[in-house]
Amino acid sequence: MKKRVGVLISGGGSNMYALVQAAKIADYPAKIVSVVSNKQDAGGLKIATREGIATHVVNHKDYATREEFDAALNAYLQTQNLDIIACAGFMRIMTTVLIIPWAGRMLNIHPSLLPLYKGLHTHQRAIDAGDKEAGCSVHYVTPELDDGPVIAQARVPILNGDTAETLAARVLIEEHKLYPAALAKVARGL
Ligand code: GRF
Repeated sequence: MKKRVGVLISGGGSNMYALVQAAKIADYPAKIVSVVSNKQDAGGLKIATREGIATHVVNHKDYATREEFDAALNAYLQTQNLDIIACAGFMRIMTTVLIIPWAGRMLNIHPSLLPLYKGLHTHQRAIDAGDKEAGCSVHYVTPELDDGPVIAQARVPILNGDTAETLAARVLIEEHKLYPAALAKVARGL
């Protein structure tokens, strides 16, 4: 039985799309059944709709606190009969209200070689530090930001003259391969 996956997005959804494409392969162990955004105008919502996937918006601006937003989002997710949640460019700091119910079943992709560069502006920070390589990590979500156990990582070289933008583009190509592989690993293990 394929595991049922919900994907949380805030933006363009290219990682979500990579998961959707991977899940079309016959023996892939998961299917993307729901795409949820905190922003009505997230580009990824249109992509999901085009792919025939149910979409839903829970707008964080409709809630006074992070906890209230997380409770509303979790309430919706609980209706979808999901096995796994995959955060893919979901730009919200989550509280335990959302994280604890999905412990061990919620993944995130982060554009750095964790534990390096948690939080934002990862590529600029790697360039500023003079690092020779950057990359991306898929990890379990735990209450500390970008801190949970790493499931898989991919590395890319930092080249002379790289800007945050050129490096981000190179890392994103690896993200689109890494996330489907990491989700498959988790889905097979559940
Ligand atoms: C990716 O780099 C992801 O790692 C992140 O934000 C970006 C989202 O891109 N934290 P997309 O929405 O999946 O295209």
